[in-house]
Amino acid sequence: MRLLLNTCAEIEGVIGEIYRYFADQVVCPERLRDIWLKMASDEDRHARDIRFFARVNLDKELALEKLSRVQADQYLSRVRSILAGIKISEIKEGEALRVSKKLEQDLLDVHLTLAVEILDEKTSRMFSCIVQNEKEHLAEIESYVRSTEDAGGKTFDS
Ligand SMILES: [Fe+2]
Repeated sequence: MRLLLNTCAEIEGVIGEIYRYFADQVVCPERLRDIWLKMASDEDRHARDIRFFARVNLDKELALEKLSRVQADQYLSRVRSILAGIKISEIKEGEALRVSKKLEQDLLDVHLTLAVEILDEKTSRMFSCIVQNEKEHLAEIESYVRSTEDAGGKTFDS
């Protein structure tokens, strides 16, 4: 359990790094930069919260069937390779938005699974809070895309 939670915390950290990289490197309006920076600091906070619970839970067996360590490890490799990929090619705003949206959707699924599957009530509640936060991120990205497209300036494929 502890290893699984630590892997989850690491995933959050890498995703935070991806958003910080977008905020720093992608040519985009200030508003989107601020959204990415806020998302990055939220993901960092999630990572800290999850690490805290990983320590508290120590070796407690919290039944988890749907999300195995193997899946968590695979997801960690995926986000790491996304981070490596965006660093080697110039990434445009539309592509960065698409990546952000996909990451948030995936995170939502993972955290929802954890919130439902974890038997420990406090840990489960923490994941529910994270789920709420990821929903806000997704809504923020979607609202940015909508308002930018409505303003007629750009069209982002998603
Ligand atoms: Fe998020």
